[in-house]
Amino acid sequence: MHMHKYEKIWLFFGIGSLFLFLTIVGVSAFAQGNQPPSCLTTIDPEKVDQTPPFNKPGLVKTGDNEYQLNIVASAFAYTPNQIEIPKGAKVTINVTTKDVIHGFEMVGTNVNMMVEPGYVNSFTKTFNETGEFTILCNEYCGTGHHLMTAKVKVVDKQ
Ligand code: CUA
Repeated sequence: MHMHKYEKIWLFFGIGSLFLFLTIVGVSAFAQGNQPPSCLTTIDPEKVDQTPPFNKPGLVKTGDNEYQLNIVASAFAYTPNQIEIPKGAKVTINVTTKDVIHGFEMVGTNVNMMVEPGYVNSFTKTFNETGEFTILCNEYCGTGHHLMTAKVKVVDKQ
């Protein structure tokens, strides 16, 4: 079959781009741990305080070295706002809001979620090193927006 030179170039370019983009998506997902927005779980934003697990926010042990961290965002605070995580723990962070849209960014990590009323957002991360992380709100939510922070400490297990 005869193929024109330009046609070959275009085919090479097209198939090459396909593999390039698949590689980028693969590296992003498997090497850097990026996840698509979850947003599959809904919650009544007016009843967050009565809805498990957000009626008792905080760190819950769910397995061997596995934890769930349930956090409620509201203007202008996170509950809880001082969190201790044992080193090496695999933590699924669930976060929701009682009022307006907030952000949930763990500075220096790839944990970065938009927190929308009516939805529960989740992100799973393993904390392999001790240290301190600041959580901050990166969606403008009102006059106290700049005060909205929390602290996570990853500590050595006793
Ligand atoms: Cu909450 Cu900005």
